[in-house]
Amino acid sequence: MSKKLEGKIAVVTGGSAGIGLGIAKRFAQEGARVFITGRRQSELDKAIASIGRNASAIQGDTANLADLDRIYATVKAQGGHLDVLAANAGFYEPGTLGEITEAHFDKTFNINVRGLLFAVQKALPLLTKGSSVILTGSVASTFTRRRTSSFSHAPKRWLRSALWASRQVAVLIRRFGRTLP
Ligand SMILES: NC(=O)c1ccc[n+]([C@@H]2O[C@H](COP(=O)([O-])OP(=O)(O)OC[C@H]3O[C@@H](n4cnc5c(N)ncnc54)[C@H](OP(=O)(O)O)[C@@H]3O)[C@@H](O)[C@H]2O)c1
Repeated sequence: MSKKLEGKIAVVTGGSAGIGLGIAKRFAQEGARVFITGRRQSELDKAIASIGRNASAIQGDTANLADLDRIYATVKAQGGHLDVLAANAGFYEPGTLGEITEAHFDKTFNINVRGLLFAVQKALPLLTKGSSVILTGSVASTFTRRRTSSFSHAPKRWLRSALWASRQVAVLIRRFGRTLP
């Protein structure tokens, strides 16, 4: 049976654990060449062993723009282009309005907003006709319950809207049929 991603090049940021690792495994099973990223080399090594064939790890922090440049330079050198970007690296920390600290605010915007935005922006030159960008968000950005209120996820909803509204992305979609689900 033919595989859905045979011959495709995919990047999964935060692909060494959790949801990202699940995405990376499925992409590899479907035939994609998968590059996973993460900050801890030890976790990347374990993830690569569990994904098996067709997977490579590139260590880096998505909140660090120099790391993103290096990550995409490696993808370009080894894959040539990018068919699927799963911009997944992020975190969730529960906290009510009264509990949000300056450190939590800065961490949220550095990783879940800045890191996510630039992970997408810096991938643009590698995207090809028909390529896809997948953003891992959360229902917690619109739905909260007592004690599970999450400021960590709230900005992701705004960012998703901002990326959709981005003139550059809109032009790319019109011109090349690129998608941003
Ligand atoms: N789990 C949930 O219930 C849930 C619900 C809704 C949405 N989400 C979203 O889903 C995504 C994945 O969550 P998860 O629960 O699977 O998280 P996880 O198990 O903690 O895994 C996070 C992954 O992202 C990497 N990562 C974290 N910060 C990074 C950074 N600054 N740069 C590069 N890599 C980074 C981690 O590796 P290193 O730590 O080594 O960097 C790891 O590979 C996140 O965006 C999260 O907000 C999760």
